[in-house]
Amino acid sequence: MPPRLFSYGHGAAICDSQMHVNLPNSGSSMTTPPFTPLIASLSSSVPFVGPETLERSRGRPFAARLGANENGFGPAPSVIAAMQAAAGDVWKYGDPENHALKETIAAHLGVSTRNIAIGPGVDCLLGLVVRQYVNPGDAVINSLGGYPTFNYHVAGFGGRLVTVPYRNDRGDLGALLDAVRRENAPLVYLANPDNPMGTWLEAEAIQSFIEALPETTLFILDEAYGETAPASAIPPLDVERPNVLRMRTFSKAYGLAGMRCGYAVGAGEQIAAFDKIRDHFGVSRMTQVAALAALADQAYLHHVVGEIAAARQRIEKIATANGLQAIPSATNFVAIDCGRDGAFARRVLEELIERDIFVRKPAAPVLDRCIRVSVGPRAELDLIEERLPLALAAADKPA
Ligand SMILES: Cc1ncc(COP(=O)(O)O)c(C=O)c1O
Repeated sequence: MPPRLFSYGHGAAICDSQMHVNLPNSGSSMTTPPFTPLIASLSSSVPFVGPETLERSRGRPFAARLGANENGFGPAPSVIAAMQAAAGDVWKYGDPENHALKETIAAHLGVSTRNIAIGPGVDCLLGLVVRQYVNPGDAVINSLGGYPTFNYHVAGFGGRLVTVPYRNDRGDLGALLDAVRRENAPLVYLANPDNPMGTWLEAEAIQSFIEALPETTLFILDEAYGETAPASAIPPLDVERPNVLRMRTFSKAYGLAGMRCGYAVGAGEQIAAFDKIRDHFGVSRMTQVAALAALADQAYLHHVVGEIAAARQRIEKIATANGLQAIPSATNFVAIDCGRDGAFARRVLEELIERDIFVRKPAAPVLDRCIRVSVGPRAELDLIEERLPLALAAADKPA
């Protein structure tokens, strides 16, 4: 019997968006190489519809790109200069051990290089962790509406996703723990601060959760937005604990989403397991250059974190001016509660897209009453300020 599989389809991530692709060959009498039962059982979907896909289907570009939780302020000028200087070397493969970058990250965090695994973004590392710990049919715990790329990997490796509703727009640690125990789950995931809501839990609560976890359950604490969070949300690093992996990225505060670089921090034996299955040349030479230069420019990081906080405040003001409520955020985006149901928020999103403003929205019930607006430079926020009232008025009209 094939293992019980989680089907990823049916709205798990739409808007945070999901795309369906028609595969050729259905109905054909030709014999084709058989997919594995697992692959054959998956719906043909990707977790996110990119703004480029939407631009192609609309036939025109967006005027404001505020939907993908990117950092519209971009990387430090020193990072761009370092990349320009390294451009002529791209005929060489990157260092497969990421040695210099690993040493620098380890020194930055005050841990050993044994405690750091580097990969092409947290998204990729999440897949490697699922592969390391999840047997087909094993329960894996996430929040309902939590980061969909993680769920995508769970499905792709035959895990059985078990979700727990948010509580007050935050991950519900008590319910996550109950689910872990009930399901005897090898893996539980939490993003803190959270995507898609931008909310955060305090470090003390996370620490109590860690201490209460069964030793046989690995906890992925995704801190993609760690740099923009208050210090009180980040528990102390404890690289002696074998059942916690912390994930960080250069995609958000460092403004390098397009370079693809993330890292996991954890105990030596667990970190060493990445070497068994990672793509050794997956972090490109240029990416290593960019990440090293970004870490070296902490003054710019500090500056841009201030810009992000100011942009969040501006988005909050825009929401309030339109009679909407912004959910307090510790990330580089703000979820705006549109005050009604998911269908209304979806219409607002569509009307914004129609007016050349790219934003996204959560898909899961309750969270789906929101749209999610990423920070960006002043000119882009001016555009959403101008067009949100129009989108709201259009969304309000009966179809
Ligand atoms: C919680 C969370 N984890 C990971 C990522 C992706 O990180 P990376 O670009 O390093 O793959 C995102 C991006 O939106 C995110 O929101």
